[in-house]
Amino acid sequence: MYWNVFKRLLRFSLVHKQLWIWGLITLLIATLCDVAGPYLIKVFIDEHLTNGVYISEATLTLLAFYLAAMFIGAVGHYAQALLFSKVALSVVETLREQVFHAVIHRPVAYFDTTSTGAIVSRLTNDSEAIKELFLNVIATFVQNLVLVTGIFIMMGILDIHLMLVSALILPFIALAMWGYQRLSTPLFQKVRSLLSDINARLHESLSGMSVIQALNQQPRFDEQFQDTVWQHYLWRVRNVRLDGLMLRALVDFMSMLALAAIVFAFGLTSLEQSVEIGVLYAFINYLGRFVEPLIELTQRLNIMQQSLVAGQRVFELLDAPLEQYSGTARIEHGRIEARHLSFSYDDETTVLDNISFSIEPGKMLGIVGRTGSGKSTLTQLLLRFYPVAPDMLLIDDIPMDQISTSSLRKSVCMVEQEPFLFQGTLAENLIMGEQYTTNELTSALEQVGLSSLLQRLPEGLNTVLGERGSRLSNGERHLVAIARALLRQPKILILDEATATVDSASEALVQRTIQRLRGNLTLIVIAHRLSTIKDADNILVLHHGRLVEEGSHVSLLEKRGLYEHLYSIQTAHLALE
Ligand SMILES: Nc1ncnc2c1ncn2[C@@H]1O[C@H](COP(=O)(O)OP(=O)(O)OP(=O)(O)O)[C@@H](O)[C@H]1O
Ligand SMILES: [Mg+2]
Repeated sequence: MYWNVFKRLLRFSLVHKQLWIWGLITLLIATLCDVAGPYLIKVFIDEHLTNGVYISEATLTLLAFYLAAMFIGAVGHYAQALLFSKVALSVVETLREQVFHAVIHRPVAYFDTTSTGAIVSRLTNDSEAIKELFLNVIATFVQNLVLVTGIFIMMGILDIHLMLVSALILPFIALAMWGYQRLSTPLFQKVRSLLSDINARLHESLSGMSVIQALNQQPRFDEQFQDTVWQHYLWRVRNVRLDGLMLRALVDFMSMLALAAIVFAFGLTSLEQSVEIGVLYAFINYLGRFVEPLIELTQRLNIMQQSLVAGQRVFELLDAPLEQYSGTARIEHGRIEARHLSFSYDDETTVLDNISFSIEPGKMLGIVGRTGSGKSTLTQLLLRFYPVAPDMLLIDDIPMDQISTSSLRKSVCMVEQEPFLFQGTLAENLIMGEQYTTNELTSALEQVGLSSLLQRLPEGLNTVLGERGSRLSNGERHLVAIARALLRQPKILILDEATATVDSASEALVQRTIQRLRGNLTLIVIAHRLSTIKDADNILVLHHGRLVEEGSHVSLLEKRGLYEHLYSIQTAHLALE
């Protein structure tokens, strides 16, 4: 399974073939220079030093070669690090773009079951972890494998027997690597999960600060946090201890053994034939150089594991189904009809139960009902946020799934219960990628009674509203959202009235706006204040997802049912005020 993740990640990087190829070439050159160094010194020792020749044309040439090799090696290492980093960074960039694209094209239902934190961490932590795969794993692997191979080839050229003696160390190191991997994986996982606990605790404490302080919970939270941090410390120490023991000490010990074996073998050979002292020097040097990369490789295996886990999580998100509707029908009038409409978010609890109604174009429909009765859900279905069975819900007699997405988004606008404004200016929040003249913007604001707000804002339409429109009051935000919807000249406008945010004055504004709009488009108004929808053409009364009453204000009052009950509570309340 991880193999597939690895292959897929690799494919992402192959877009940059050129970078890869140059990276490998510079890596090869740098490594060749690395392994050439000890060989050149060996030549110096055996051919010149032992003959007592220090300075001659030949030694100077050798010195020049040596310096050149060191210099080219350094430049090569710099170039290859740069090239591999470029590959890594561009893979992360591509992944982030794709994840974001995938996220904003998910059906709304997806966000009911996926936490924001999880999505954010795909885009940030996981993408970073994947970067490590290219930066620290693949590059190091290639580099070290080339280095170790190069070293062995050089050793073979120098002395095949001593090379074989040195090679004896390899299976032991492989064993140590395997053992380290086995032992360290659970430690690593524990440390990571504790780290995410720390983050989660911090996050929760910060968001719930007012509750913590109001209920005097600081000592308890302090203690919990300390405990988690302490656990994290303990596991980290275990990890470090294992690293110290397995990585450095064990491998060093083995390389000492190998060294002893080489010196011994060297001694044995020298009994029979004359051997060159420079060869011994080169071997000792090479041995020192190949242990380091092996230790590095072992450490990188853990990073690789983490990167692949991260990669898998990112791919899961990328592969989840996108919202797909291929219908081409267009909305022309704005007639709505529901036929025995039933709906459930989770296929268990029924939220809407067998609802039938219809509205003609240009009419106004009011929806009332207690909190949680399914009012917002009903209107979200009209925006196709959730799929419904065909023929249960139709606009202009077209089943929802056959309407083209662009026509649906243009023709049906909703002002949500808690409208969202983006970080940006008032004008940007109204325009949202469309094209309107300043006149159109101001007249839309006028229509919802916000001209005075426009005058009050220091830079008018160009005033920055702050995060989520924090510069405005809740009521003003609601009205701006209505203006935003009006600008789009929809065929159907849905207003989901906020329960508490709009005061009586703002409500009067909304009501006046509604009066002005009537007849021009199909209006659906979800109201908590029944006065808002008093003169709607038709009113639906929902109760626990069922349509219990329907009719005009007057006829509903006469029925003396739920509507009359809600109305009398409100009028009594208003009388008290
Ligand atoms: N995304 C969701 N996933 C699962 N259940 C949901 C979701 N949204 C709403 N519900 C449930 O569906 C039911 C109806 O919710 P809905 O938001 O339609 O009520 P409402 O009539 O608009 O209430 P209010 O007057 O408080 O706005 C509630 O019981 C609610 O818990
Ligand atoms: Mg609601």
